[in-house]
Amino acid sequence: MADTNALLALAGRHLLKTYKQPPLVMARGEGCRLYDTEGKSYLDLYAGIAVCVLGHAHPALVKALTEQAARLGHIANLYYNDRQIELAAQLCARTGMDRVFLTNSGTEANEGALKLSRRWFFTQGEPERMDIVATWSSFHGRSMGAMAMTGTPKYWEGFGPRLQGVSQVKYGDLEAMRRRVNDRTAAIIVEPVQGEGGVLPAPAGYLQGLRDLCDATGTLLIIDEIQTGVGRSGMYLAVQHDGIVPDVLTLAKGLAGGVPIGAFLVREKYADALVPGTHGSTFGGNPLACAAGLAVLETLDREGLIEGAAAKGTYFLSKLEAFAVKYPALVKGARGRGLLCGLVLTDHVEAREVLGALRDRGVLIAQAGDHVLRFAPPLIVTEAELDEGLAALDGVLADLASRAG
Ligand SMILES: Cc1ncc(COP(=O)(O)O)c(C=O)c1O
Repeated sequence: MADTNALLALAGRHLLKTYKQPPLVMARGEGCRLYDTEGKSYLDLYAGIAVCVLGHAHPALVKALTEQAARLGHIANLYYNDRQIELAAQLCARTGMDRVFLTNSGTEANEGALKLSRRWFFTQGEPERMDIVATWSSFHGRSMGAMAMTGTPKYWEGFGPRLQGVSQVKYGDLEAMRRRVNDRTAAIIVEPVQGEGGVLPAPAGYLQGLRDLCDATGTLLIIDEIQTGVGRSGMYLAVQHDGIVPDVLTLAKGLAGGVPIGAFLVREKYADALVPGTHGSTFGGNPLACAAGLAVLETLDREGLIEGAAAKGTYFLSKLEAFAVKYPALVKGARGRGLLCGLVLTDHVEAREVLGALRDRGVLIAQAGDHVLRFAPPLIVTEAELDEGLAALDGVLADLASRAG
């Protein structure tokens, strides 16, 4: 067994200090369980931040990856590869989009969506139409373009001039968006549920309102489903609950169940904005990642995981809501969609503290801001596992309540 202290010492010396990590080293996973180098097991209710939709080491994913690795791992995009074509076709069929560009992360997908939007107006003879309107508290990634769209100013600090022409308005405020969009606006970008921003679902009618605004003004509607897509919301896309189709759609996280991948998808009308030489990626759409993506889609269907996410999400959310009644001094309420749920704590309760106490009880979740607990379990999670997580959370909240009282 690996020596945990030796590994932690190496990490302390050689990894950049970009993450605040507890002194745990994960070594293995199976289903909804993770095991650290000491052999301690944890119930995983965050799935690598909404990524491992099939849990860990799912046999279908292991088989697809093993077979693909033995057949063809990488060729770059100098030639077509069969897996990429098959995945692109399936993604279009499920989303109502026409064409796909495959990337390696969510950030790159949003970066591509931004480039496509600007370039579309360039090709239409309107190069000055390059502004992008995003929303406050959004999260779209950490590269210079995606970071500029991300509506959390602390993430911009110290990185020099921000990309020009990008601004934010209040999330959910249709009037604010209507006031901001003008004849220089190329695109609007929003998440159907703000994930990092606090697991905040769009208010009813907001996404349809944005669709109408974009139709009326010729602005591109970019929907960032990097966290909400691939079944997490209880439909393949969260916008499908609202019956709208974006002009550009971005996906990543769950797309290949844990193998790095991302995608931006576009309607045919805008597809010629990017032609040979205007965009590219060495790894994007590589056969290994695409084989994993195909295995995810096939398994979601075979195991009924998308309908399951809707049913399990409704159950879980109702249980989370009950904590606001039981612990009103600690919990304000719960919100979410499908298996992306947030528990909103009162202002004096730090999410980080609850997270740590839950981890001590063997349950792993994520946070979304300082006062929201984020649950994004694998879609294979069972009701019994959700109950196990809820019981641990009940214990942590009871401890906090007794300390406060
Ligand atoms: C909505 C959303 N967009 C974009 C990103 C960035 O994706 P990545 O971390 O894969 O670059 C994230 C990551 O959390 C996200 O939640």
